[in-house]
Amino acid sequence: MCLLLLVLLVAAISFTTSATEQLRPCGDGKLGFASYYGDHMVLQRAPQRAVLWGCGPLGTQVTVSVQGPTTQEILVSVSNETRMWRVILGPVESGGPYNITAALTNHTNSFVTLRDVLFGDVWLCSGQSNMYFEVSQIFNASEELALASNYPHVRFFMVGLDKNDIEQQDLDKVNIPWSVPNEKDLAPFSAVCWLFGRYLYKTLNSPVGLVESSWGGTTVEAWSSHTALKKCGLDHKDENYLGPTENSVLWNAMIHPLLPMTIKGAIWYQGENNAKYHRDLYSCTFPAMIDNWRTGFHKGSGGQTEIEFPFGFVQLSTYEHSSTDNGFPEIRWHQTADYGFVPNFRMKNTFMAVAMDLPDDTSPYGTIHPRDKQDVAYRLTLGAQAVAYNNFSTFNGPFPDLIFPDNTYVTITFDQELSVSPSEDIFEIGCSSNSIFHILGFKWMPASIMNPIRLERLAL
Ligand SMILES: *[C@@H]1O[C@H](CO)[C@@H](O)[C@H](O)[C@H]1NC(C)=O
Ligand SMILES: *[C@@H]1O[C@H](CO)[C@@H](O)[C@H](O)[C@H]1NC(C)=O
Ligand SMILES: *[C@@H]1O[C@H](CO)[C@@H](O)[C@H](O)[C@H]1NC(C)=O
Ligand SMILES: *[C@@H]1O[C@H](CO)[C@@H](O)[C@H](O)[C@H]1NC(C)=O
Ligand SMILES: *[C@@H]1O[C@H](CO)[C@@H](O)[C@H](O)[C@H]1NC(C)=O
Repeated sequence: MCLLLLVLLVAAISFTTSATEQLRPCGDGKLGFASYYGDHMVLQRAPQRAVLWGCGPLGTQVTVSVQGPTTQEILVSVSNETRMWRVILGPVESGGPYNITAALTNHTNSFVTLRDVLFGDVWLCSGQSNMYFEVSQIFNASEELALASNYPHVRFFMVGLDKNDIEQQDLDKVNIPWSVPNEKDLAPFSAVCWLFGRYLYKTLNSPVGLVESSWGGTTVEAWSSHTALKKCGLDHKDENYLGPTENSVLWNAMIHPLLPMTIKGAIWYQGENNAKYHRDLYSCTFPAMIDNWRTGFHKGSGGQTEIEFPFGFVQLSTYEHSSTDNGFPEIRWHQTADYGFVPNFRMKNTFMAVAMDLPDDTSPYGTIHPRDKQDVAYRLTLGAQAVAYNNFSTFNGPFPDLIFPDNTYVTITFDQELSVSPSEDIFEIGCSSNSIFHILGFKWMPASIMNPIRLERLAL
């Protein structure tokens, strides 16, 4: 009995702040919105409800009023303890523009206004250098930037690089305030995030708000809370590994403050830095981070962000063609919690943009940074269509449905049509009499494609 394995990878918070460390972002309580509210922003549209929060003087009330195609007004008291106020707006349908004012009740001259606000879907974009990779660096960058002004309803915001030992209530740094696309402001923004947003906009025809919070060279542990790390046995800080990759520091400074924001979903491009750091824990740490972000955003938004919000990510491509494994095979496997495809039982409501086929051997930014961000962003939008918007088309690669070995050939039936050329080395086959083949020393052998019998069947 021979166990066969194919190596064609197919597409297939707790919101706690300890009392002693409770931060008071409001200082003495000057009236204002939290740092990530601003003119030109996108707030989450109906059926979800957007959250607004800010600061105000002790003992006052704030009236939040929404003016635009629809109107609403909500009165809220400033907390005596934290000098913070928070409202959950009534649901607002896609569109705009709106002006949103927070005014001190009965003080006619004390108010702050957010102008040109749209309601649409808000997506968070996070990860390391491939998410940080700028629009100005991709293939066809100048053409892409020249298109920017055609998409005034895709707005973007970038969190500043920051780390902290304790969970922050508000952002300390903003890198790009909410912007209407123009060449200059878009150039340093995340290419994957931007392209995802603008492709998504084309299918939704509804405003899209993009929030980038990413940092190059960072590990999944840095973006994970202590609660998430504990699930994988990483309770303590790793004192040997300092800097922006230290456990939880980016979660504390760059994600935790965003939790009150109502979002539609998140996309992620990371893993390279875990290839040599806690690599084989990644199948635990990555899903644990997703779970923990989901709980945190759900609670932080007063239940408005879905408890299992859609989470998409980019598969790492190959990058070291001189090495025997081409780079990152283990991390690619762990990106799917060792299933080989998503969504799966461990990673529900997730989607993955396959990138195995998109290396960039001549990238001036290093082969680890492919310049083709268009294809991965497009594949992410196909996944988002299916997982986040229930608009199913083909969003995964061909998946082997049936594997049938006889004495001469192995016939594989896929769940969708394929276009293949006969090849000597696309497939490898691993054989073992034992199902724990991966720890026994067994061999992978190239298997040539003998005959694409029918379009969706291959004989090896
Ligand atoms: C807040 O403080 C004001 C006076 O400063 C007081 O009247 C009010 O009862 C306090 N509210 C709460 C909930 O403690
Ligand atoms: C928002 O404020 C601007 C500037 O005051 C004004 O021109 C615009 O008409 C306002 N828009 C709405 C929807 O109230
Ligand atoms: C605002 O003024 C109205 C009318 O004078 C009064 O009833 C209300 O209590 C005042 N609200 C606050 C928060 O001072
Ligand atoms: C559904 O997906 C297709 C293919 O991506 C797209 O053309 C269409 O606009 C989408 N429809 C909706 C309602 O999102
Ligand atoms: C760049 O533009 C050329 C010409 O339009 C096109 O053929 C190519 O596919 C584009 N590259 C990417 C990565 O989109």
